[in-house]
Amino acid sequence: MSLLIKNGKIYQNGSLVKKNLFIEDGKIIKITNQELKADEVFNAINKVIIPGAIDSHVHFREPGLTHKEDFLTGSMAAAAGGITTVLDMPNTIPATTNLQRLDEKRKLAKKSIVNYGFHFGSTSDNTAEIEKARNVASVKVYMDYTTGDLKLDKLDVLEKIFSSNKTVAVHSETDHVLQAIELIKKSNNSLYFCHVSSKEELHHAKAGKIKNNVYVEVCPHHLFLTAADLNELQSFGEMKPKLKTKEDQKALWEGIFNGKVDTIATDHAPHTKEEKMQINYPYGVPGCETMLPLLFNLLNEKKLTLQKIVQLCCENPAKIFKIKNKGFIKEGFDADLAVIDLNLEKEIKNDELFTKCKWSPFDSWKLKGWPIASIVNGNIVFENGKINNVKAKEVLHYE
Ligand code: DOR
Ligand code: ZN
Ligand code: ZN
Repeated sequence: MSLLIKNGKIYQNGSLVKKNLFIEDGKIIKITNQELKADEVFNAINKVIIPGAIDSHVHFREPGLTHKEDFLTGSMAAAAGGITTVLDMPNTIPATTNLQRLDEKRKLAKKSIVNYGFHFGSTSDNTAEIEKARNVASVKVYMDYTTGDLKLDKLDVLEKIFSSNKTVAVHSETDHVLQAIELIKKSNNSLYFCHVSSKEELHHAKAGKIKNNVYVEVCPHHLFLTAADLNELQSFGEMKPKLKTKEDQKALWEGIFNGKVDTIATDHAPHTKEEKMQINYPYGVPGCETMLPLLFNLLNEKKLTLQKIVQLCCENPAKIFKIKNKGFIKEGFDADLAVIDLNLEKEIKNDELFTKCKWSPFDSWKLKGWPIASIVNGNIVFENGKINNVKAKEVLHYE
């Protein structure tokens, strides 16, 4: 099967070039001015083509929580949002904390229409399993209490995990950011801070960046919402870490502009509307369908550059998690692409979402700049509002 994407503006080496992409067997074979003959042709005239986004942080809820989301619905939401690869979190039921469960999850993920990888969970007694786990994005450590029961606070276990030869991704809030930095100082490992949400956390994380193996992720909800929005959103705006002040939000944006933030990821954490309306509501908001539109809207307002978006959502996740052949539009790389219509204006509407939970904290936001097609391994899995159910693949992490 071959596909020619013609007339588009391709993001390559930091700028846009008018070229055609010839794709065969899931790979970008040629970036060319020629109109090579292909089985299928996609006319991308007046569209911008970027590497498909790599969302390093999603909760697709399989196994055990499939009333909230599953690998098919979650991946449909991702595809509709221009995300072509996701890295799934381990706080499922059961949690992904041993090899057998990782294998089970691998089977369940075969439903996904975007490519996928896995973060491996940690407990007080699974360090032997962590050592044995292969082809995982990271070992995830929950230093604070959140959805699931993976909170870890035994110092000797933490020390062991932080010196394992896997990237450590942490859910760490406030002082736990400092603790994580102390722990990583003693090893040569990489440390990835999930969802940094405040000025203080960013400040602490930055201190750890003197060694360049410390990375910072921020999430769209902390970039576009603050605690002031909770009046209206109520529990639908509650996640961990919580929404913060305007000043915190400003610090996160400054971090984006001055290079202290390495990735933007969704922390897509769907819960049903019913669950969210209970008194003991769970924490988390969905985000896969809205991240790129929120960012492209800012691009249209000239507040953000295309380079930043591609760096933080595509290139850096591929580099940090060592994902083979992804994150860039290059000959020989996987044909994972997002086609963006920068002029399309559309409103986010709860009932039009593909996520199983059918709500978004950004419902009714009107945005300009939307993904109109997503290509995964050379297959058009999303086009003009419609899903094409072609199964994707597990990513490969290089050493
Ligand atoms: O808000 C959150 N929801 N934060 C987390 O750390 C977990 C997530 C979830 O799984 O629901
Ligand atoms: Zn978290
Ligand atoms: Zn999360």
